[in-house]
Amino acid sequence: MKNILKINNLSKNFGNVSAVNNVNLAVEVGSIHSVIGPNGAGKSTFFNMISGVLPPSSGKVYYKNNDITGFESYKLPHMGIAKCFQITNVFPKLSVRENVWSSVFSCARKSKFDFFKPLSNFKYIAEETEKIISDVGLSHKINDKAEELSHGQQRMLEMAITLGAKPELLLLDEPTQGLAPEATLEMTKLIQKLSKKHTILLIEHKMHIVMEISKVITVLNFGEVIDEGTPSEVKESKKVQDAYLGRG
Ligand SMILES: Nc1ncnc2c1ncn2[C@@H]1O[C@H](COP(=O)(O)OP(=O)(O)O)[C@@H](O)[C@H]1O
Ligand SMILES: [Mg+2]
Repeated sequence: MKNILKINNLSKNFGNVSAVNNVNLAVEVGSIHSVIGPNGAGKSTFFNMISGVLPPSSGKVYYKNNDITGFESYKLPHMGIAKCFQITNVFPKLSVRENVWSSVFSCARKSKFDFFKPLSNFKYIAEETEKIISDVGLSHKINDKAEELSHGQQRMLEMAITLGAKPELLLLDEPTQGLAPEATLEMTKLIQKLSKKHTILLIEHKMHIVMEISKVITVLNFGEVIDEGTPSEVKESKKVQDAYLGRG
């Protein structure tokens, strides 16, 4: 299996507005594949159709060659797909550890882990929780309540909660939106690190972020794919430059 996700002729209309029009895209296993475009290009609509928030008007979504078109969001984590930064599922009064623990716990119960060895299961969950918290750089805050974290740290916690589901495919919608430059850099580095273990579909408005970390970039404008290629190919593209200058 070369492509973990395949999108065929995906479209979404809102009345007469064609928000996404006949988009085709294939995400290769192990890659960071970014979808960029100016405001209003259709990025969020596209993301919402893949992540089960909006049913497509037409077209198909295949995950590992299975048709998941129109599957509701709640079904996706169990299949290995997780999304971040759409809804915040942080419990403010719980600690960082408790927030991540509950995510690891709820997914571990539904998967391959042995029900008949509850003690080893709990040990696994505790260790996995600490590992994920360390991966997102929050070990020093592990016992702090979520509500006491800075904005940037809360976003890292959201990422940790998402990772608790052990996704193979991680869907990220503008993960650096609203972050200060330093936190943006940290998030970008984290995404790069996570790509060693997860395939990542990254929806992003900011060009410089995707240029640094993507393997493939698909560019949307007015709901349609106007270009696709490596970061250097997209950087040179006249069509892309015009789209960003015209509407950026
Ligand atoms: N729920 C909706 N109802 C009507 N029009 C919408 C809705 N959501 C998005 N649109 C329109 O679809 C187009 C694409 O929007 P969106 O997907 O949010 O773009 P982006 O995320 O790239 O900024 C825009 O013209 C927007 O106004
Ligand atoms: Mg958007």
